[in-house]
Amino acid sequence: MDTILVLDFGGQTAQLICRRIRDAGVFSTVVPGDAPLDREALRGVKGIVLSGSPHSVYQPSAPRPDPALRAAGVPILGICYGLQRLVTDAGGRVAAGKTREYGRSRIHIRKPSPLFDGVADRFVSWMSHSDVIERPAGLATVAVSENGHPAAMQDGAGIYGLQFHPEVSHCEFGARILSNFAAGVCGARRDWNLDRFLESIAARVRAQVGAAPVVTLISGGVDSAVVAALLLRALDPGQVHLLYVDTGLMRDAETEEVLASLRLLGAANLCAVDASQRFFAALAGVTDPERKRAVVGDEFVRVAVDELERLGIAGACLAQGTLYTDLIESGKGVGARADVIKSHHNVRSPLIEAKRESGALVEPLAELYKDEVRRLGRRLGLPARVVGRHPFPGPGLSVRVIGEVTRERCRTLRAADRILIEELHRRGLYDAIWQAFCVLLPVQSVGVAGDVRRYGSVLAIRAITSEDGMTADVYPMAPDDLLAISSRITNAVPDVGRVVYDVSSKPPATIEWE
Ligand code: XMP
Repeated sequence: MDTILVLDFGGQTAQLICRRIRDAGVFSTVVPGDAPLDREALRGVKGIVLSGSPHSVYQPSAPRPDPALRAAGVPILGICYGLQRLVTDAGGRVAAGKTREYGRSRIHIRKPSPLFDGVADRFVSWMSHSDVIERPAGLATVAVSENGHPAAMQDGAGIYGLQFHPEVSHCEFGARILSNFAAGVCGARRDWNLDRFLESIAARVRAQVGAAPVVTLISGGVDSAVVAALLLRALDPGQVHLLYVDTGLMRDAETEEVLASLRLLGAANLCAVDASQRFFAALAGVTDPERKRAVVGDEFVRVAVDELERLGIAGACLAQGTLYTDLIESGKGVGARADVIKSHHNVRSPLIEAKRESGALVEPLAELYKDEVRRLGRRLGLPARVVGRHPFPGPGLSVRVIGEVTRERCRTLRAADRILIEELHRRGLYDAIWQAFCVLLPVQSVGVAGDVRRYGSVLAIRAITSEDGMTADVYPMAPDDLLAISSRITNAVPDVGRVVYDVSSKPPATIEWE
């Protein structure tokens, strides 16, 4: 099959490049930046993209592609670090710039390029770099940034480079530029679709698991529900054990619906266990967010292992709904070169690592972004309400109760969160928001209830829009809606004395507070 290969040098958005190309109907896959580019690796490859990186090309430890890259005889597109790598490897020069180009920036096209077919002469892009190309080694500038620096280059012989990120959703015409490269410049056929995707993931799962039993840890969220539905489709349903662990850290009433819909999809072995006591005991006194993630992750697997023993399937594989965003933010993208932003609990827990190393960890969604998972879920027959639910972090409410996590504080948070979500549904706002939730702060503030002084907790409301969780904008909630929601919460939830609205985008903030 015609393929565009993406070399991952550790940029936060390397997999997103791939995903945008797949959205254009062309198959694309990511390999580590230094992967060998031999005949086998190049089978079906029509073009190669070099991703961005947290490294600078002049750092001695900076990652490099296989020197056989240019001999592959296919068009090459370098993005940001990828372009700088192409330039330096060809004898050019990149230097530290005086101005850092970061965030939105306007691009001005100066010369025609097949990358810019159907693209406006000026458009808004997303930049994140400080190094500047000083000697371009045979590449001609075809577009410039607001600061007059080269923003797009080409050599007329199949080498292209962009100093901005066409893969991020904030880049106007970004998807068009990548599609132009894949289908136009490289001539790759557009024969990739969701059904082929489903087929290939199912085949991979069958190859990994064989006839062994496999246990899926159901969290109540979208990702694990889709994993379960996928396993029920790919394997013999008798092989598939669905284990729901009630951690006590779940949102209100979310699990029943998921369990009911999985029964409808033919789940034969479905088991629920209330382990909340164990989780609260393990979390007692823990306030550090990374520690919380490790504690919840470890406890989760311990409970799972105990249950597997009880059920007599201790050797079973474990399946979980890790997404690409979890891997990349934990520094575990394909090239393992990305910085750690947050250790998503399902990636870094030592017990999960052990399962991963023994080949007994099944993560069929690890290449996917949230909206792709939703599309897959719909295709697999999960109800729209389950598939459309806002994302929820694996460590659950433990990362939304800032400070120590207790059963009481979770109860308070859950009550406030239920009101927020109910109100969003009632006002027809739920589906316009990518993720909305409450965060309970370890801050007490003074208020007045009746004529009596009240000392209550501060609760933050967060509502964001996003395409994939990698970047996010604040949802501009109407003041009337906010006032009504805040008033309902402070009236109905005794411990909450004050409500604030979080107005930070990602970056620089992350979506969750911890
Ligand atoms: P951040 O907070 O990193 O979140 O901007 C990006 C998306 O990931 C979710 N999230 C997590 N999911 N385990 C998960 O399974 C985690 O530890 C975790 N931390 C954040 C978050 O809710 C958002 O959708």
